[in-house]
Amino acid sequence: MSKEGDFDAVRKDIEAILKQKGYDDGHIGPVLVRLAWHASGTYCKDTDTGGSNGAGMRYEKEGGDPANAGLQHARVFVEPIKRKYPWITYSDLWTLAGVVAIRSMGGPDIPWKAGRSDFDDDSLLPPRGRLPDGSQAQDHLRHIFYRMGFNDQEIVALSGAHNLGRCHADRSGFEGAWVNNPTRFSNQYYKLLLKLKWQKKDLNREGAPWQWVATTPGMDEDDEPLMMLPTDYSLTQDAEFKKWVEKYAEDQDLFFDHFSKVFAKLVELGVYRDEDGVARFNNLTKGKYESAPPKSLTPGAPERRPAQVTHISTKARL
Ligand code: HEM
Repeated sequence: MSKEGDFDAVRKDIEAILKQKGYDDGHIGPVLVRLAWHASGTYCKDTDTGGSNGAGMRYEKEGGDPANAGLQHARVFVEPIKRKYPWITYSDLWTLAGVVAIRSMGGPDIPWKAGRSDFDDDSLLPPRGRLPDGSQAQDHLRHIFYRMGFNDQEIVALSGAHNLGRCHADRSGFEGAWVNNPTRFSNQYYKLLLKLKWQKKDLNREGAPWQWVATTPGMDEDDEPLMMLPTDYSLTQDAEFKKWVEKYAEDQDLFFDHFSKVFAKLVELGVYRDEDGVARFNNLTKGKYESAPPKSLTPGAPERRPAQVTHISTKARL
């Protein structure tokens, strides 16, 4: 039986499952990073709704959002860890998995604190449509990320997560990887944005009408070209954004430092802590640690009905 609160043991077990031969580029790290981000990126600072509490993707209302397509794989990958450590909340597990994955792929250490709670039904979940749409451009990025409380520099730093992983035609409609080595965290994304000759490629898919593609000098003709989303490319078409793209392309240490800070901020969205760093579920009560029961070990549709929650704190409501 695992020791309650032993997050170091959880970290080790997350690390141990990251390399998976049959999946994508042999690594589940990128999709875990995307899970942590989508679990947090629903936050709205004006209404104080959404954010990394809740683990709302367990419910159809959020998990079935087309913006979250593909993340059922990430959730199922970490399910055996939830089984082994049933006391951990999904919202802590999903955010911690992203942080551990980034470090393990050569990225920076990211400060992470426990204490997020799982919702026991879908009533507190934010509406769909709060995550960014890759087919748009800089105005849209500002609209979405300002709502979460980020500034221009932070938007560019966060976008650098696209050093990792790939797009899947059956998930987002876009296809391909941003960099040549998509399981190694670096500042390559910014360098390629500035250096390569990007060309528009029609995809003619709903939600993903076209994307940018380019090849690097060492590539063969039948190699899959590198890609950029319209939103990625728009960072070079805006003076304030481009300034940061250039800085991060030149200075990987600066990028790692800023990325660590901004990712830590991302996974804290909607989480309140007292002066000792202990999470409060709202401003009135010190929330208890509400951990939802384990789910299925195979990918499937998210639940429509509320799940039972253990360690229920009836006062712990937003
Ligand atoms: C700036 C606005 C953003 C847009 C429009 C966007 C859009 C996308 C899209 C369309 C995909 C492909 C999904 C698929 O087909 O599997 C993707 C993948 C990914 N995104 Fe973003 N994203 C954004 C920001 C972020 C941020 C802030 C992070 C993390 C800090 C992030 C991390 C990732 C990762 C790691 C993947 C690869 C997932 C995989 O390999 O399965 N993205 N993103």
